[in-house]
Amino acid sequence: MSEIKDTPSFVARSSLTFRAPNQRDGVAVWRAVQQAGTLEPNTAYFYLIFCSDFRETCLIAEDDKAIAGVLIGYHPPNDPETAFCWQIGVLPAWRGQGLGKRMLCAWLNLPANREVNWVTATVADDNAASDQLFRSFARSLSATCSVEPHFTADHFPAGHRPEPIYRIGPIPKAARKRV
Ligand SMILES: CC(C)(COP(=O)(O)OP(=O)(O)OC[C@H]1O[C@@H](n2cnc3c(N)ncnc32)[C@H](O)[C@@H]1OP(=O)(O)O)[C@@H](O)C(=O)NCCC(=O)NCCS
Repeated sequence: MSEIKDTPSFVARSSLTFRAPNQRDGVAVWRAVQQAGTLEPNTAYFYLIFCSDFRETCLIAEDDKAIAGVLIGYHPPNDPETAFCWQIGVLPAWRGQGLGKRMLCAWLNLPANREVNWVTATVADDNAASDQLFRSFARSLSATCSVEPHFTADHFPAGHRPEPIYRIGPIPKAARKRV
C-alpha cells in the first residue's frame, strides 16, 4: 500500500502525532466519528474512500494507543484554492485542550493544501463549540471569518438544523507558517 512521501508527520506538545490517514485507518476513523458524537456518521465505506482517494486532504491526530481526533476534508472541484472541512471531531477525553485548533492548523499546512487561500466549513447553527473553533482558527490566521446562509433547513430532511457556511480567508502566507 502506498504512503504519502511528502506528508509531514510531526509530534506535537502532547506527544500526539498528526498525519494524513491511509485506507488501513478507515475503520478507526469511522469509529472515531461515532465516538466524537454530534457529527452525522457516514458509512464505513465513505471513510474508506476519504482515507484513500482524498487522504492528502484529511488528517488524524493519534497517540500511541488510539485516534484522538479526525478531520475529513477535500478541495471543492470548482474551487481548488479552497479547502473544505467536512467533518472535524475530537474525542471527548481530548476536548478543550486546543486539539481541534491544532488539527486545523496542521491540516492547513499539509502539502496538498499549500496553494489554499480559503478554508470553508458548514456548521449546524446550534453547534457553539464548532462555531468558536472556526472563529478562533480565523483569528490565529489574522483572517476574516464570514458566516452566510448555505444549507438551509428546507435542504435537509425534517428536523435537521440549518448549516451556514463559514468562509475563512484570504489566508496570508506568513500567517499559515505561524500557526
Ligand atoms: C468542535 C470540536 C472539534 C472542538 O474541539 P476542541 O479540541 O475541544 O476545541 P479547542 O480546544 O481547539 O477549542 C477551540 C476554540 O473553541 C472554543 N470551544 C471549544 N469547545 C467549546 C464549547 N463547547 N463551547 C464554546 N466554545 C468552545 C475554545 O474555547 C477555543 O476558543 P479560544 O481559542 O478562543 O480559546 C469538539 O468539540 C468536537 O469534536 N465536537 C463534536 C463534533 C463536532 O461538533 N464537530 C464539528 C462539526 S463540523
